[in-house]
Amino acid sequence: MSNASGVGDRRVRVGLVGSQFVSTIHAESLHRCAGAELYAVASPTPGNAKTFAEKWSIPHHFTDYRQMLANPQLDLVVIGAPNQLHCPVTVDAAAAGKHVVCEKPLAMNLAEADRMVEACKKAGVLLMYAEELCFTPKYVRLKQLLDEGAVGVPTLIKQQEKHDGPHAPHFWDVERSGGGVTMDMGCHAIEFFRWMLSGKNGQRPKVKSVYAQMSTQVHTDKTRGDDNAYLILELDNPQGGAPVVCIAEESWTKLGGMDDRAELHGSKGVAFADLLHGNAIETYSQGGYGYAVEKAGSTVGWSFTIYEEAWNYGFPQEMDHFVRCVQGREKPLVTGEDGRAVLEVIFAAYESAGTGRKVNLPFKTDARKPIDLWKR
Ligand SMILES: NC(=O)c1ccc[n+]([C@@H]2O[C@H](COP(=O)([O-])OP(=O)(O)OC[C@H]3O[C@@H](n4cnc5c(N)ncnc54)[C@H](O)[C@@H]3O)[C@@H](O)[C@H]2O)c1
Repeated sequence: MSNASGVGDRRVRVGLVGSQFVSTIHAESLHRCAGAELYAVASPTPGNAKTFAEKWSIPHHFTDYRQMLANPQLDLVVIGAPNQLHCPVTVDAAAAGKHVVCEKPLAMNLAEADRMVEACKKAGVLLMYAEELCFTPKYVRLKQLLDEGAVGVPTLIKQQEKHDGPHAPHFWDVERSGGGVTMDMGCHAIEFFRWMLSGKNGQRPKVKSVYAQMSTQVHTDKTRGDDNAYLILELDNPQGGAPVVCIAEESWTKLGGMDDRAELHGSKGVAFADLLHGNAIETYSQGGYGYAVEKAGSTVGWSFTIYEEAWNYGFPQEMDHFVRCVQGREKPLVTGEDGRAVLEVIFAAYESAGTGRKVNLPFKTDARKPIDLWKR
């Protein structure tokens, strides 16, 4: 079988853009992927791409991603660079004829998102949006429960991601990130809700409205972005009747390591899924030890020790799917259009936090970045 790119059944040659946090997860995940060959890495800090390439046995490394794109052997680019680079790198990759996997959030604004979708369409390459929650094994099982009728008609879905704040300066700088925790982690919840309620053909339901409460409660010295946010969305109910209420809780001020949970309530049942603590070893250590879970801080005293963290989050499963899409074996489960739809909800959420009222969708704006609608 082959697709327009001519990749067919052979291994997909992948180039990573970025060499730090998420690119390490990408490398680990792609290493597990039978259909992928880690072919190149590009990262601007002198020495970083080389060190990364040596660690992961990647044959080519660059300080300028455009040099990597010039290589005709490369099939797929996986973008793990800061938010403000997602659009320019995608547009350059499409122009070079490469398929693209872009990390969340898709872009800084809706005009950029449109440009990315258009550029990939025009070049005949895939634009895939890296929302790993759609591949997270425990959440995949949760969706199956909903789809097989275990909880009846859905009434309420909750999802939360909380830790004590990002590891790199670009997240805190709203000029480079576009917003705070809503932009950084709210995007996960929004696509999670859309995907949970999607039909057999992957068709997402319409988001009807969003109401948001945001604040900067702890990190006022570090950022103008929101460090705590609560979003209430109404989504069309695929089973008819009243809209499904979906509540996202996001925090950059929660100590003790990453928390990621979901609740599914329906007319005939309820299901709770705790992604990290529910899967962890409960450890008490007087002296502390190496690593417990993402952003755990200290491991002295009680901690929750995760195992197979990338697998539990669905990253290898996500990359395997995207690679199979490039081979023409599967159709992307999460696309640039999904990333754009998530971004539209994010903009509407900041508008709601700025005005104190519920905002209906579709929501049009030419704001340069989401946070501009909150802090006018
Ligand atoms: N899906 C997830 O759960 C998840 C987790 C973490 C980060 N992310 C997303 O991934 C992106 C990167 O985040 P991170 O945590 O890896 O940040 P990071 O700071 O750890 O790494 C960013 C990397 O981008 C590189 N970079 C900067 N400018 C570049 C350029 N011009 N060309 C190529 N590379 C460049 C940096 O050198 C660095 O290697 C962000 O958009 C973030 O939202 C997603």
